[in-house]
Amino acid sequence: MDLRIRSFEEYQQKYAESVSNPEGFWDEIAKTFHWQKPYDTVCEWDFEGPDIKWFKGGKVNITENALDRHLEQRGNKLALIWEPNDPKERFVRLTYRELHEKVCEFANALKAQGIEKGDRIVIYMPMVPELTIAVLACARIGAVHSVVFAGFSAHAMADRINDAQAKMVITADGLNRGAKQVPLKRVVDEALQSCDSIERVIVFNCLDWSPNMAEGRDIWWHEAIDGMPKECPAEEMDAEDMLFILYTSGSTGKPKGVVHTHGGYMVYTAYSFQNVFQCGESDIYWCTADVGWITGHSYIVYGPLISGATTLMFEGVPTYPDPGRFWQVCDKHGVNQFYTAPTAIRALMAYGEDHVLSYSLDSLKVLGTVGEPINEEAWKWYHIHVGKERCPIVDTWWQTETGGIMISGLGDLSPMKPAHAGYPLPGIQPVLLDQEGKEIKENGVEGYLCIKHPWPSIIRTTYGDHERCRTTYFSHYKGHYFTGDGAKRDENGMYRIIGRVDDVINVSGHRFGTAEIENAVNACSIVVESAVVGYPHEIKGQGIYAYVVCDTFPDDLETARAEIVETVVEQIGKIAKPEKIQFVTGLPKTRSGKIMRRILRKIAEGEPDKLGDISTLLDPEVVADIVKGAL
Ligand code: WTA
Repeated sequence: MDLRIRSFEEYQQKYAESVSNPEGFWDEIAKTFHWQKPYDTVCEWDFEGPDIKWFKGGKVNITENALDRHLEQRGNKLALIWEPNDPKERFVRLTYRELHEKVCEFANALKAQGIEKGDRIVIYMPMVPELTIAVLACARIGAVHSVVFAGFSAHAMADRINDAQAKMVITADGLNRGAKQVPLKRVVDEALQSCDSIERVIVFNCLDWSPNMAEGRDIWWHEAIDGMPKECPAEEMDAEDMLFILYTSGSTGKPKGVVHTHGGYMVYTAYSFQNVFQCGESDIYWCTADVGWITGHSYIVYGPLISGATTLMFEGVPTYPDPGRFWQVCDKHGVNQFYTAPTAIRALMAYGEDHVLSYSLDSLKVLGTVGEPINEEAWKWYHIHVGKERCPIVDTWWQTETGGIMISGLGDLSPMKPAHAGYPLPGIQPVLLDQEGKEIKENGVEGYLCIKHPWPSIIRTTYGDHERCRTTYFSHYKGHYFTGDGAKRDENGMYRIIGRVDDVINVSGHRFGTAEIENAVNACSIVVESAVVGYPHEIKGQGIYAYVVCDTFPDDLETARAEIVETVVEQIGKIAKPEKIQFVTGLPKTRSGKIMRRILRKIAEGEPDKLGDISTLLDPEVVADIVKGAL
């Protein structure tokens, strides 16, 4: 099924149709998928609950659409290309038929290990084909996967396992990342000391290490699949049955489990994939994200495979063995669509263009970015040196909660403007609201970005706590889904995302709540309290700046900093390390005891002259001290 729009005029027409008749619009698209039983209604919704149902009554399994449906015509087409960390190692290619077999085989292994429909499985894996296989195998039998990015610490993993009450962990002995190897199984073992729900751990042998294998609990992947049949019927799922939980940070201390479902997520990831990337039948598509994040779920695994595309999966990092690696891989495999993060572009920019210029990059047709606003300088570098001013750049705005790309150009069809995500996809109805929650209808304005009508892959709930879903996303502005982002709309109606308006920091495209990092900092024994804010960082977009009060002001600042960093790494992982730690004697607070982050943010941004009115503070003196000691 080719769901591609072919011109900007057609986009405008489809868009208008999707607004005037959303159900008719999505029905046309959804009908082209394989349903075990057709749905009764297209969409029933109420943003108050929220209670949102797409394709109610329909029976479907997303893996039948991602695998079985292609076997007849695309059985021998490449589904997955895997490029290893080390360019000298052999790459792997799997056809749709081979991937189907491997998924079925592992799905049977999961069943043999006691997994049943509805069970939750935490996946903590390197970027190897088995990660994709594990994800699809869960979906095949109706188990709910929850992938935890392999950079998270034991503590963070244990939180997620406990919240999901997962029954199994799928992991590996360790992983390759550039010149380093990182143990994974050891982290799992540590996490499991504080988890009661796990009955089994399946361990994929990635590095030929000999990790500890707990008798009766742990089993090797190759042993688990031994003798398993390569056929496994796809479990019949309700369209609204849970497909996965993915934990993401919000403005409170505890990450929340975003829930997506089989039917709606399937339809939207495929539709958005095909239209944004304009991926043709013989194209090779590469998204450099990790499957541990939503981008990997939707645009390495599900969107491309449901569309019958060839998706490339990369184990390594952009700078290993040298900063030309991305471009070497593009030439090696003839990549046509390349999708990455602004932070990676900025990091590579810093090494100079020689690394790009030594590759032809002739095969590239469409470039994409995701995860954070892209600054004009990085946009231009990407456009000129990578795209040779020939490839359109699709700046895709979306979120874990939206499941798929919401605002973006469509390949070379749409007008393009640096740093602007552009126009909404058909079916997506963004609005900008003012402080009072009133819709700002004109163009050339700025406001809070909300969506006023559901789309098939909208978040359904936050696992185990529906009220949290309601208060976080549906209660700020009645009748709207609130994104947490601020945006501008230019004279032509193109959107430009400015960034978060809540207490979320975006570090290298990864989301952290300030409260989440504060909790981690506060777990350090020398810390009394702390306040964390983001500040502009040349490569990472935002860096983490922590203001810390200790029981006694540390004599040795470096040792104290190291201690705090170590605690954060233990609590969350290396990805959440504060860049700057300033020791202070007190934090600016209102009389009611609320920390004035606005002031701390201005100081961190290097604008202490723009603090505004501080006279209402409990102790205005403290601000002068903080400004003096700013890093
Ligand atoms: C930000 C990643 C500007 C935004 C898919 C959003 C972006 C958060 C863009 C979601 C973009 C994502 N331009 N900002 N193209 N894409 N963001 O859940 O603040 O990891 O709310 O999903 O990233 O991050 P998440």
